[in-house]
Amino acid sequence: MPSVEQNLAMWNPDWGHDGSPWSERWGNVPAQWYGCIYPRIARYLPTKRILEIAPGYGRWTQYLLKHCDVLHGVDISETALAECQRKFGGFWRRPKTRFVRNDGRSLSAFAGNRYGFVFSFDSLVHVDLDVLSDYIKQIIPMLDKRGVCFIHHSNLGEYGPNAPNPGFRSHSVTGEAVEALIDKFGGRMLVQEKLVWNPNETMLRDCFTLFGRISDFAGIYPKRIRSADFTTQSRLIKESIALYHEQGVTGRPAGSG
Ligand SMILES: C[S@@+](CC[C@H](N)C(=O)[O-])C[C@H]1O[C@@H](n2cnc3c(N)ncnc32)[C@H](O)[C@@H]1O
Repeated sequence: MPSVEQNLAMWNPDWGHDGSPWSERWGNVPAQWYGCIYPRIARYLPTKRILEIAPGYGRWTQYLLKHCDVLHGVDISETALAECQRKFGGFWRRPKTRFVRNDGRSLSAFAGNRYGFVFSFDSLVHVDLDVLSDYIKQIIPMLDKRGVCFIHHSNLGEYGPNAPNPGFRSHSVTGEAVEALIDKFGGRMLVQEKLVWNPNETMLRDCFTLFGRISDFAGIYPKRIRSADFTTQSRLIKESIALYHEQGVTGRPAGSG
C-alpha cells in the first residue's frame, strides 16, 4: 500500500491547486526547484529528450522544458494530464511535448524512445515496490548513452510495516530494495540520498536515487548519504529568499535614490 487504485482515487479528482502549496517549506516553487532540485541534477542537463514520470500539474515540468528539445510525460491522472496539455501542449510549442495517461506501471506509449534524462519528484514516494520494479525495468533500456534517471521514492520500509505514515508513503520500499532493482535490471546506482522530509521528524522516510546503465557507469562506485539535515536545507533556502522578497514588497521604490 498505497496501491495504484488508491493513487488514482487520490489524484484523479481535481486537487484544487497546482502543487505549489507543497513547496511552501522552501518558500515557493522556484525556490524549491533552484535551491533543492536543480543543483542535484544540473550536471545531467541539458539533454535532447526528457521523460517525466507523474508530472501532476507540471510543477517541475515547467523547468524541465528549459533543458531539452522534447519532453514526454506519463501520469495516471487524467485531470493532471489535461492541465499539462493545456499549459505545455500543442504542436506549435517548443520544446515538443507529449503527455500520456498510463496504467500506473507501463511506459509502452514511449517504447522505442531514448532519453538523456528520466525524472520523477514528489510522486513515486506513493508507489509500492512492485510499481517501482516495473518502471525501473523499463527505464534502464530507454536511457541514452550516459543518460541517467533521478527518482524520489519512499524509504519508509526501513522502519517496518507499522511506522507512522503522515505522507501517504509506501511501506514496501527501501533505498536498498531500489538499488537491488537497479542492479537486477542492468543499471548502476550513482547516488542515493535518504532524507528526513518533514520538520520535527527523525525518520529518513524519503529517498532520492540517481542511476544509469551499468554499461555506461561500470567504473563508478555508488555514493550513499543519510541526510538528517534536509529540512535545515529547506529552511535556510526559505529564510534567505524571504529577505529579498520582502524588500521587493516593502522596500524603497526602485529609482528613488
Ligand atoms: C503528489 S502528486 C505530485 C505531482 C508532481 N510531481 C509535483 O511534484 O507537483 C502525485 C502524482 O503522481 C501521479 N501518480 C501516482 N502514482 C502513479 C503511478 N503509479 N504512475 C504514474 N503516475 C502516478 C498522480 O496521478 C499525481 O499526478
